[in-house]
Amino acid sequence: MFQIVTSYLKFLWNSKNEHGVHSPFVFDLVTKCFYDTKKHTEYSLLKEYRKSLLKNKNYIEVSDYGAGSKVFKSNKRQISKIAQTAGISKKRAELLFRITNYFQPDTVLELGTSLGLATSALVQGNPKAKIKTLEGCQNTIHQCQLQLQKFNINTVECINTEFSSYLKNFQLQTSNFQLIYFDGNHSKQSTLNYFELLLPTISNESVWILDDIHWSLEMEEAWKIIKNHPRVTVSIDTFQWGIVFFRIEQEKEHFVIRV
Ligand SMILES: C[S@@+](CC[C@H](N)C(=O)[O-])C[C@H]1O[C@@H](n2cnc3c(N)ncnc32)[C@H](O)[C@@H]1O
Repeated sequence: MFQIVTSYLKFLWNSKNEHGVHSPFVFDLVTKCFYDTKKHTEYSLLKEYRKSLLKNKNYIEVSDYGAGSKVFKSNKRQISKIAQTAGISKKRAELLFRITNYFQPDTVLELGTSLGLATSALVQGNPKAKIKTLEGCQNTIHQCQLQLQKFNINTVECINTEFSSYLKNFQLQTSNFQLIYFDGNHSKQSTLNYFELLLPTISNESVWILDDIHWSLEMEEAWKIIKNHPRVTVSIDTFQWGIVFFRIEQEKEHFVIRV
């Protein structure tokens, strides 16, 4: 807890809004997407998706993956509680929608489906995109599939797998995910492994969003290594998310932006 508070104070001290940004690419992203205050009609769909999960009082048995929950002690969990604690917040889901809508990626990969709250934002951002989402827990992804069906969402391929085993066996050399949302297993080594495994898929258009970069000292270390990686040109720290780009025409630059 102390570490998160210290990191947040540091973030506030270092962060800027659009006025400190000289890169036209980042300036446009910040002003036209991050700070877009329009009430998009898609927000009401995201709200309905969330509301229906929050009303679901059924229990499922979950298998724990990742760095573990700071909230749950038991593996028998109520759907509404999973949605409340593991799912993306309303504000972040709207931002994820805007980022997807802004970049219009044709292909999207999500690591960490849970009940599909973020997946639904990715879908609304570009309904034509082919989306793959990976989740280790079989019962959780089954619930997500039911929820996606309920909302007539059929552009998502839900894959029940452990991340690394999937990524190690998948034809990554010939894949190109234009947007990747990393939202599972917030440990340093795993985050760095996924980063390395997915590097063959990058293109100039790639947008990678990493959740919880300040969640722990370990995750802060992972973020530092990722943003300094030679293939990364632009990085943006929004506190909750680290966003990286591989655009060769951009000078290497790190931004810390309040969203
Ligand atoms: C924070 S939740 C994802 C939340 C979701 N993106 C959303 O916003 O609704 C992380 C999920 O990743 C899954 N997960 C974590 N580590 C994993 C791993 N190594 N392999 C497969 N699934 C994993 C967990 O089971 C959990 O459901």
